[in-house]
Amino acid sequence: MDYKQLVAATLAPALPDLTSDDIITKIEQPKTSKQGDLAFPTFTLAKTLHKAPQMIASDIVEQIDDSDFEQVVAMGPYVNFFFKKDAFAADILGQVLTDGGHFGDSKLGEQGQVPIDMSSPNIAKPISMGHLRSTVIGNSLANILGKLDYQPVKINHLGDWGTQFGKLITAYKMWGSEADVKADPINNLLKYYVRFHEEDVEHPEMDDEARDWFKKLENGDEEATHLWSWFRSESLKAFKQIYERLDIDFDSFNGEAFYNDKMQEVVDILETKDLLHESQGAEVVDLSKYDLNPALIKKSDGATLYITRDLAAAIYRKRTYEFVQSLYVVGNEQTNHFKQLKAVLKEMGFDWSDEIHHIPFGLITSNGKKLSTRSGRVILLDKVLDDAVTLAHQQIEAKNPDLPNKDEVADAVGIGAVIFHDLKNERMNSFDFNLEEVVRFEGETGPYVQYAHARAESILRKAGSPELATSGQALSDPAAWDTLKLLSEFPATVVRASTEYEPSIVAKYAIHLAKAFNKYYGNTKVLVEDDELNARLALVKSVSVVLKEALRLLGVKAPDEM
Ligand code: ARG
Repeated sequence: MDYKQLVAATLAPALPDLTSDDIITKIEQPKTSKQGDLAFPTFTLAKTLHKAPQMIASDIVEQIDDSDFEQVVAMGPYVNFFFKKDAFAADILGQVLTDGGHFGDSKLGEQGQVPIDMSSPNIAKPISMGHLRSTVIGNSLANILGKLDYQPVKINHLGDWGTQFGKLITAYKMWGSEADVKADPINNLLKYYVRFHEEDVEHPEMDDEARDWFKKLENGDEEATHLWSWFRSESLKAFKQIYERLDIDFDSFNGEAFYNDKMQEVVDILETKDLLHESQGAEVVDLSKYDLNPALIKKSDGATLYITRDLAAAIYRKRTYEFVQSLYVVGNEQTNHFKQLKAVLKEMGFDWSDEIHHIPFGLITSNGKKLSTRSGRVILLDKVLDDAVTLAHQQIEAKNPDLPNKDEVADAVGIGAVIFHDLKNERMNSFDFNLEEVVRFEGETGPYVQYAHARAESILRKAGSPELATSGQALSDPAAWDTLKLLSEFPATVVRASTEYEPSIVAKYAIHLAKAFNKYYGNTKVLVEDDELNARLALVKSVSVVLKEALRLLGVKAPDEM
């Protein structure tokens, strides 16, 4: 049952000038349960009704039929609704226990396909913390959209083409060795790249050579192509190890190079529509009517650019997936690029460009400074995951040394901590990365939520397999009631996270629910043999189900014991 709708229907006869939606958008959640379960504020009606808000509230209460609620009272400028606790508890717990992990599923997306461009690291460079953000945000959005009956398509748009390959080949030929690349591809390729940038300051001729190598690559030169494809496959192998640790998979690894033979069509359409103009030898699309800089489609030497590939990719995705939305989880610093991308598509006559959404996120800094591959100042994700897992191990060793499958749990907790830390921040917030903080297990962390879930499971294990009762006096005491109400908010929370493309909404929800449960558990002896035992256990079971599902949406595992 939707309680906001019930409130709106109850209020409707007293507020003939407002639609049900008008009423619903005004409904608030009171700060404490003492003020009821939902509240309708009357301030905004004072002007039109020419009455004081307090008067309006008490008049409403007199006019309505309150029989669907335990109580409806005017409190100052609010009409406060108190639910019938028994019916509410039976309704929510019944749903959670019947639906299990499917609680909160909906048909909203009607199977519409949603490509999600995510992770998309650059070949021959390490996956940075920035790519981690894109990976985990994208993965969580895929899970959230999937729950709402969309069909997410996770695409890793690898940075596997571009002038940097000219630099890399040049550097490799100067200082590289096959054995080194094979032994540790990412770090050694990065070393070459960093060294190139250190030395080209004094040897600008290196840049010419790099340009030549890239040209050769574009023309299909055998040696260049061989080196490129070798760098690519070695890097991809290393990336896949990290994805495996994160337990994140992709539906496609079509990267930038995949579009090499698909860009001519883009240029042709732009030419037919007379959209390409010459500017300083380069071909550009003028976007002044969008208040944007011209989009650079082809350089003076004929080389195509990042945006040209993205235009080809956007068209390819529309054709391949007939998407209802197309998402790009890419750092905030590329906002202008995606504005240009949408604008050029619009100019080309593709109205579906409105369905393209850039999902930006803030920067991760280290000691307040921007990370950069060029300077070699990177945080290596692999190392972060290792450290987090080691720390999880230590905690388990200290708290629960007899735990079976310790390694598996330490993995779930350590890696879960890294993922959760990233997702609990609103994605646009930048944050300074500090390993200590990520792997801290106190406070609002992944392990905290996992621990609440494991605690619930442990209670249930101790209880054996009792029958669960969805009603009982035990469910209306304040801590139980707060927990129940949070459970009821889960479906709407998932929908909000999907429309705002904001996994942090689910992460914050999980923290709230874990906190409410810990409070309940701290105040209540659950495992006491009395008439209410099965009602308490139903609540515990429901909390466990919803915490686990919330964590799943974030891409975090929920071990039963830790
Ligand atoms: N490889 C790029 C980078 O690391 C991100 C690519 C994002 N996706 C895209 N379709 N442009 O900055």
